[in-house]
Amino acid sequence: MKALILAGGSGSRLRPITFSMAKQLLPVANKPVIEYGIEQIARAGIREFGIIIGDTGDAVRAALGDGSRWGIELTYIPQAAPLGLAHAVRTAQPFLQDDPFVMFLGDNLLKSSIEGLVQEFEAHQPAATILLAEVPNPSQFGVAEMAGERVVRLEEKPASPRSNLALVGVYLFSPQIHSVIETLQPSARGEYEITDAIQGLIDAEGEVRSVRVEGWWKDTGTVEAILEANRLILEDLSSGLAGEVEQSAVEGRVQIGRGTVVRNSTIRGPVVIAENCHIEESFIGPFTSIDAGTRVIRSEIENSIVLSECSILDVPARISSSLLGRGVRVVRSEGRPQVSRLVLGDSSSVELP
Ligand code: G1P
Repeated sequence: MKALILAGGSGSRLRPITFSMAKQLLPVANKPVIEYGIEQIARAGIREFGIIIGDTGDAVRAALGDGSRWGIELTYIPQAAPLGLAHAVRTAQPFLQDDPFVMFLGDNLLKSSIEGLVQEFEAHQPAATILLAEVPNPSQFGVAEMAGERVVRLEEKPASPRSNLALVGVYLFSPQIHSVIETLQPSARGEYEITDAIQGLIDAEGEVRSVRVEGWWKDTGTVEAILEANRLILEDLSSGLAGEVEQSAVEGRVQIGRGTVVRNSTIRGPVVIAENCHIEESFIGPFTSIDAGTRVIRSEIENSIVLSECSILDVPARISSSLLGRGVRVVRSEGRPQVSRLVLGDSSSVELP
């Protein structure tokens, strides 16, 4: 069995962060979201991984390397244009050949392990196994219609969904999928949909098994979703203090990285602070992840993701439910008049108290 990880796509719902960064590399608890999926598949015993890359391919390669870190072999597969998930599979066909494979969308996060799924797939050898999860907003996903335990129909982002069962971005395929993809037509949004390809398997009377996800599942494609994913991962955080903590209160589960200094502050977990940060006279509240080299001085922040090398200095109002990209500065303005001065990239969003 091989693995196919998808790390292309434009990440339009995470702009402006995704103007300069692959959405799959956005950190959740200071680890790129794509690494969680890679680790889960590696734990299921799969060694040969193909990674579909697009415009952000160089950054993905730089972040993941050759896979030796996980004891796996990574093959990068450039996709000329983001023409859909089925197009990605077609692009990967020379790598996949006639092997069955797990396909994992690089911005999806799954709590439960996939080992059982892989074993079951290998034992029964269906045409495909799909994962389903109940969601409150099914029209934003592929949706499955069931008759008992049988999948009867799949529809991509239907306006009037026939159920609340979303297709999770983790699929197991036999090589039969390739012949269906050859016959696909693009959807209304101009993409070759994997959802339509699986419908093609059903139409050809191939066996499509479905499994309900255990535990939570998140597609981290929006700010709200990635903050929620961050909360879910931090729920399971273990404590570890490698930095220096002086005259500060550290409450609950907190990780502080090497070279980080925390002074005269309160850190209320679950919180993860990476290496070489400086936290002084500040409050870092629950469900916050702060990446390497960031400074927080005389400021308060909670329920947020802060990437590396940011400066949050003397900010008068508590920052909450926020996502800050690399090298962002949020500082109190000096002098008179007291004004807000903003230098924001395209599609930035600021909410002032
Ligand atoms: C894709 C699939 C959709 C699936 C979703 C899961 O949507 O097309 O069927 O439910 O991933 O994350 P996209 O994220 O490309 O909009």
